[in-house]
Amino acid sequence: MNVRLTAPGEAPAMPAARTVATSNAAVEFGRVTKSFGDVTAIEDVSLRVPAGEFTVLIGPSGCGKSTLLSLAAGLEAPTEGFVTAHGREVTGPSRDTALIFQQHNLFPWMTTEANVAYGLRSRGMARREALARARELLAKVGLSDFAKKPPTALSGGMRQRVALVRAFATEPTLLLMDEPFGALDHQTRKIMQAYLLSTWRDSGATVVMVTHDLDEALMLADRLVLFTGQPGRIAETLDIAAPRPRSRDDPGLREIGTRLERHLAAAAEAAEFTEAERARLASR
Ligand SMILES: Nc1ncnc2c1ncn2[C@@H]1O[C@H](COP(=O)(O)OP(=O)(O)OP(=O)(O)O)[C@@H](O)[C@H]1O
Ligand SMILES: [Mg+2]
Repeated sequence: MNVRLTAPGEAPAMPAARTVATSNAAVEFGRVTKSFGDVTAIEDVSLRVPAGEFTVLIGPSGCGKSTLLSLAAGLEAPTEGFVTAHGREVTGPSRDTALIFQQHNLFPWMTTEANVAYGLRSRGMARREALARARELLAKVGLSDFAKKPPTALSGGMRQRVALVRAFATEPTLLLMDEPFGALDHQTRKIMQAYLLSTWRDSGATVVMVTHDLDEALMLADRLVLFTGQPGRIAETLDIAAPRPRSRDDPGLREIGTRLERHLAAAAEAAEFTEAERARLASR
């Protein structure tokens, strides 16, 4: 079990704002601050996400995790600092980037297969070919029988499976996921995690995922990035070198889990939290 901790002070100096990075990072945040009116969501965040890695963002509610994903997706612009994807400044949404939210975002008026085919068609694939590919992908996740049905006919777990299939269908180089399995039951969640890991490994994509679930973070991440409460700053990063598939009983992982719990509890002490967040922490 190999764990490397990096205090924020040890991070290499970032280039000045607006300078485009030259590293091989799939995503890079350079001294990023993002404010919404009076609210500073994130402050002075510098982070390099190496290509092909699985990075998980963890932190208390309101610390700006979703905001960071929005910046990487080009849905928001930083107030200060810069965000690059594959060495180019992010100035808007990119075809190479896919985003998955907790709510699946499927189009209710289309069949499930048409939802999966949508991204392929918008990239110029012929209708028949795109639908055939969509059916092939749906079969891989056991949803062949639902291909012709609308997403409303699917359970929450099934819909999120479709959302994942749809995201990977277009072969994104960067996949941003915001609590994608938050609404799923424990068993479905574990199945989805295994599916995500195998699909990610086959794809070679870079993943940045937000989760509140510590077990999920430990099972999936190459690297964990822990944030302070609002305004979100990086408290520390932890590299997890445990080989996959990982065991929940791995003593090294348990040790990191304890550390994460302590971090979140301390952050909860230091900040104002919603009742829901307190309840979540208390249940651990
Ligand atoms: N579009 C927006 N307009 C105004 N304020 C916003 C906007 N997006 C985020 N914020 C504010 O920025 C802060 C950070 O929000 P964000 O959603 O990024 O947090 P989070 O870490 O994802 O929280 P959670 O864990 O609850 O999802 C919050 O105070 C939020 O109200
Ligand atoms: Mg969020």
